[in-house]
Amino acid sequence: MSKIRILDNAFYLETARTCYILQIRDGFAEHLYYGDKIPPQDWRALVETRSCLLVNTLYPTADMTYAIDAKGFEFSLPNRGDSRSSGICLNCDDSVCDFVYDSYRIGACPQDTPMPLPRDWDESLCLTFRDRAHAGLTLECWYLICYDSDVIVRFHRLCNAGERSVDILKCCSGQLDLTDGGAYELVSLQGAWGREMSVSTCPVTQGMLMHGSFSGMSSAECNPMFMLQSAGASETNGDVYACNLMYSGSHAYSVERTPYGGVRILHGMQWENLRYPLAPHNSFMTPASVMTYSSCGRGGASRNMHRFVCNHVSTCRQLPVMLNTWEAFYFDIHADKILALADRAQACGIECMVIDDGWFGARDDDTTSLGDWHEDVRKFPNGIRSVAQQLARRNIKLGIWIEPEMISEQSDLYRAHRDWVLQDDELRPIVGRGQYILDLTKQEVQDHVVHSVGRLAEAYGAGYVKWDFNRRFAEVCARKGSGYFYDYVTGLYAVLRRLQAEHPDLLIENCASGGGRFDLGMMRYTACSWTSDNTNPLSRSSIQQGASFGYPLQVTLNHYAASPGHQTGRSSSVTARIDTALCGVFGIQTDITRMGDEEFAEVSRAVADYKRYRTWLGNAEVYRLQTGEQGYRISQYMSTSGQDGLLYLMREKFDTVTQLPVVRLCGLDPQAQYRVSGPKVNVSASGATLMRAGLRLPQNFTGVQGDERTLMLTDSSTLLLEIHKENTQE
Ligand code: DGJ
Repeated sequence: MSKIRILDNAFYLETARTCYILQIRDGFAEHLYYGDKIPPQDWRALVETRSCLLVNTLYPTADMTYAIDAKGFEFSLPNRGDSRSSGICLNCDDSVCDFVYDSYRIGACPQDTPMPLPRDWDESLCLTFRDRAHAGLTLECWYLICYDSDVIVRFHRLCNAGERSVDILKCCSGQLDLTDGGAYELVSLQGAWGREMSVSTCPVTQGMLMHGSFSGMSSAECNPMFMLQSAGASETNGDVYACNLMYSGSHAYSVERTPYGGVRILHGMQWENLRYPLAPHNSFMTPASVMTYSSCGRGGASRNMHRFVCNHVSTCRQLPVMLNTWEAFYFDIHADKILALADRAQACGIECMVIDDGWFGARDDDTTSLGDWHEDVRKFPNGIRSVAQQLARRNIKLGIWIEPEMISEQSDLYRAHRDWVLQDDELRPIVGRGQYILDLTKQEVQDHVVHSVGRLAEAYGAGYVKWDFNRRFAEVCARKGSGYFYDYVTGLYAVLRRLQAEHPDLLIENCASGGGRFDLGMMRYTACSWTSDNTNPLSRSSIQQGASFGYPLQVTLNHYAASPGHQTGRSSSVTARIDTALCGVFGIQTDITRMGDEEFAEVSRAVADYKRYRTWLGNAEVYRLQTGEQGYRISQYMSTSGQDGLLYLMREKFDTVTQLPVVRLCGLDPQAQYRVSGPKVNVSASGATLMRAGLRLPQNFTGVQGDERTLMLTDSSTLLLEIHKENTQE
């Protein structure tokens, strides 16, 4: 049955558990409802009949029940009586636009979209509005339904079939007006390099909260994913709307509470300093907005997002276990060193060795050679291909790092193609990590990048590419406005699409100084994303838990690395580093030849464990049981079949004479029997007991005594337990 129903002048969009209802009235698209599923025929009961009898209220007609400021709309423009922040703002010869409803299409498929869309969806609706003031200017509102994941993807397309150019000053991808008058809180993922995905919650009071990134990238400072939750909502209860953007450039979102209690969410590409010309006979598509609703709290909303990413976005297959050279050798890399690792890597179960930065040009530090993507013969006297061949003999795939959008001033590429560089000779140069960005809006630059990356596979035999991006934008904004980022990102996606088509088996890791472009746009074209450069388990457990608000384990790449951690200087146990890295896509980033036998054995065991987990872990159902409130981060991961699971516990800080918490598990079958096992833990109990009474962990070290049964969970310690459904006979 169709997922979209037309009920007189209303549209009823349906997902597995939710529905989204809008009506067309007086040419406006009025938002009526988004939430748990209600019967379609009830839509009339949602139509607002209260008049907002305020001195300042505006009405579109003489109908005093239609107070514009009290209504929800699917999109809004300024100067039409809506005094909230507008989702779309256009300038057409200094005159105001007035879009009225024209028609709808169900089942249409948007063609030639410059912005990524999900791989597939179940149904689509396109509403077309025509501008009464400017002939030929239309606005399309698209809705794509991903039924099983309870996600609705929206985007707008402006089509200018007229003869006059239109300046786009703001064009949000998504707008959600909530008119229930409820109290809400905004949950956002903020941070910086090395401390990405820090969860921050604040009340939505009258006025506007705005977040976003101005750096040209989706950024470590503010991830595009956010949630709006009913005040006091928890991981398991309360209304939660989660939004994300399939976009890798500067973005923004605002949450505005009106004096009348309504809340408006807007999000899309960054609108500050935007003046994007839409020439006659051209169209403009916004990045896709992704939204979901759950009445089962933040956990429910996250799991919807995870299902969406796994089933409709990520290109992910089962990934090889990787060994990355960066923190082992930094720029001091050499074929001999890599081959010296290879035998041990094979013994450890590694399936891919990634040669990180430093292999090309004359790159002995970060001041030089970006753009010269040919091996440095001092370091690879027999060429990288020969390294690939020797690795292949050990069944290890070759991976290579590249930063293809960048250029160093000290490079042959710079000398040959100064005109490709984003630099403005009239301005003082702004340099970041000694490098500049290539102008990906130019076709020849796109060709060059496709060639450079493709060549790693063709000439060197790489099956895996780590794609890095280590500086932010500067000069372009002053001249071209923030619309430049849109063109840049369009160029980037064109490149990634071509690479996907030309090298369908090439696995691409998305990295940007850690998690600087950890977004759905990049995830649409890449196999996994490097979550953060910070691998210290204490920091990392919080980063990974933050990432789980919007992203599944399938895309979240983690590495086992050295202690003390190179980013924090903090020491950590082998167990904590292993347990934490296992909760996602697992890899190693340290010199395994320098490990003692005990550490090597533990890491090899972890690789073997990961190979068992990875068949189900990527798209596991994730439950955040504790998020740091009492000094614990506890997450539970259950396979979609419900057979297997993992319980991860990080104890952040130890105090003497304290007991470990009783852990109430989630998502189990109450009738079934489960075994929970791991270091010093071996419990068999029913799902009902584990969920209601909870899992009792053994005695922990209290500060004075213990025996061989005592757990030693002190500062930054972890416990990773396996959960298995037992096959019980009646
Ligand atoms: C930043 C990345 O996040 C690191 O993993 C590493 O690849 C360096 N760049 C190399 O320059």
